[in-house]
Amino acid sequence: MTCLVLCSASGAPGVTTAALALTWVWPQVTDRRALLVDADPSGSGLLGGALAARVATEAGVLALAGDVRAPDAADVLAHTVALDPDATRLVLPGISDPVQARSLAALWAALPDLASDLHHQATDVIVDAGRVGHAEEPTGLLAEADALLLAVSPTVPAVVATAAAMRRLTALRAPRPTPVPLVVGERHPYTAREVERALRTPVATLALETPAADALNAGEAPTGRWERSVLLRSARALAQSVLAGLPAGVAP
Ligand SMILES: Nc1ncnc2c1ncn2[C@@H]1O[C@H](COP(=O)(O)OP(=O)(O)O)[C@@H](O)[C@H]1O
Ligand SMILES: [Mg+2]
Repeated sequence: MTCLVLCSASGAPGVTTAALALTWVWPQVTDRRALLVDADPSGSGLLGGALAARVATEAGVLALAGDVRAPDAADVLAHTVALDPDATRLVLPGISDPVQARSLAALWAALPDLASDLHHQATDVIVDAGRVGHAEEPTGLLAEADALLLAVSPTVPAVVATAAAMRRLTALRAPRPTPVPLVVGERHPYTAREVERALRTPVATLALETPAADALNAGEAPTGRWERSVLLRSARALAQSVLAGLPAGVAP
């Protein structure tokens, strides 16, 4: 696994929270660093929360795209912010204004190759791509990611929108593995099994847990209790399932 992309088709099911939780648990599950790339074209979900007050102006995707024409892995790492003192969880911060998204197409086109280079430096890339269908969506990344998770709340409107996105993204990625729906908060109201039946493809799951999600999104230093939270435990199981090669999907 070198490049895992998370996105959604509808609403705000928790893409940013899932990406943050996976980034947090990744070094615990893999002994490798995680680099979270903040690629939401509608504007960062991290800058106001988890990264608030931590981002120097020389960090982030805009500085990277502006400083270097053809960045290499070292250039990418030089524009990151560490979430922890050991710098095993890094973030490449995104944009604060959607109009800035247009200048990033070349960076997104280069990211799959950069992720391969970073893999040789014991670093895996996790991308928050925001909602698909945005005019500036990083389509090449959605196509080329080793694994693509499509976050979905288990509600009827979200599942209907996700079914349409699954068809489009499956065709876009062929012959790569199909996208895998990530049900955030099963039983609210439908179960993961019910979503699987509706989408006719296996799903992954992530638990809902407000205090831990709020702590992650606020960039709080983790405590022991927080590490044992339902959210982070389910994120560890999800990371393991990603590493094991997510459930093989059948094109819907
Ligand atoms: N697993 C979760 N458990 C509890 N709350 C969550 C979870 N995921 C997201 N949330 C909450 O839902 C809201 C939207 O989450 P966010 O991750 O920003 O969604 P998205 O990136 O899809 O727009 C936030 O208030 C966040 O705290
Ligand atoms: Mg988001």
